[in-house]
Amino acid sequence: MHAPGPGAPPPESAAIELYYDDFAPHYVPGWRSLEHYGPLVADFLLRTVTPECRVLDVGCGPGQLTRDLPPDVSVTGIDLSPQMLARAEEGRPGGHYERHDFHDPLPGGWERFDVVVAVGCLEFCRDLPATLRHLADACVPGARLLVGVVEDRTAQAPGHTRRAFSDEGLPGVDMHCYDEAAQRAAVEAAGLSAASYRFLPAWRHDEYSLVVRYGWWELRKDAPGR
Ligand SMILES: C[S@@+](CC[C@H](N)C(=O)[O-])C[C@H]1O[C@@H](n2cnc3c(N)ncnc32)[C@H](O)[C@@H]1O
Repeated sequence: MHAPGPGAPPPESAAIELYYDDFAPHYVPGWRSLEHYGPLVADFLLRTVTPECRVLDVGCGPGQLTRDLPPDVSVTGIDLSPQMLARAEEGRPGGHYERHDFHDPLPGGWERFDVVVAVGCLEFCRDLPATLRHLADACVPGARLLVGVVEDRTAQAPGHTRRAFSDEGLPGVDMHCYDEAAQRAAVEAAGLSAASYRFLPAWRHDEYSLVVRYGWWELRKDAPGR
């Protein structure tokens, strides 16, 4: 086996891309029946999205969380999976959908965002402090963010822990879990303020017969100097 060369994407990213490319045609009905967070995301967007604002949908998949926002709202979705991005584009032809890994800084030439949703994707986040920093850097001061981080209160160790994501679908790829203290530290290090934190069900993991729970954060990007 060859070691990945310098600059090569980590092997788990390639596996995640393939997995979600395969999943894309069946995603909406399949996932809708497993996730618990649709209403929570819809409520956040209802409270935060204003006319002509700019929304970033992180790990957007087929874009269904933000696809139905009013047409004057600018929606940008980022994802690893080209097939998911293609479906997102079909669903909202006026949206901007780009292949981008949330572990990397968002391109400096992009617009800055007023509202960010990072839900259903940070399962794969190997570095929460860096990822939240990139999202904060992509926002205007005063921006509002909704972030869902897997929190496994059965974990045997504090901080950042891992468990298998799916032996059937993604063998060898971890689900990344962060305890509340690690989440809070990442939020603060990114220059974000917590308006609220809740520990709530996120989705049903049928393979392991468990409910994956998130630390749900509503965040605000502080103005510089605060
Ligand atoms: C379960 S789907 C969730 C889609 C959507 N956020 C939702 O909740 O319906 C997870 C998505 O995250 C994407 N993803 C996983 N790791 C990513 C990464 N490092 N950067 C960008 N997208 C990623 C996957 O490709 C997939 O489309």
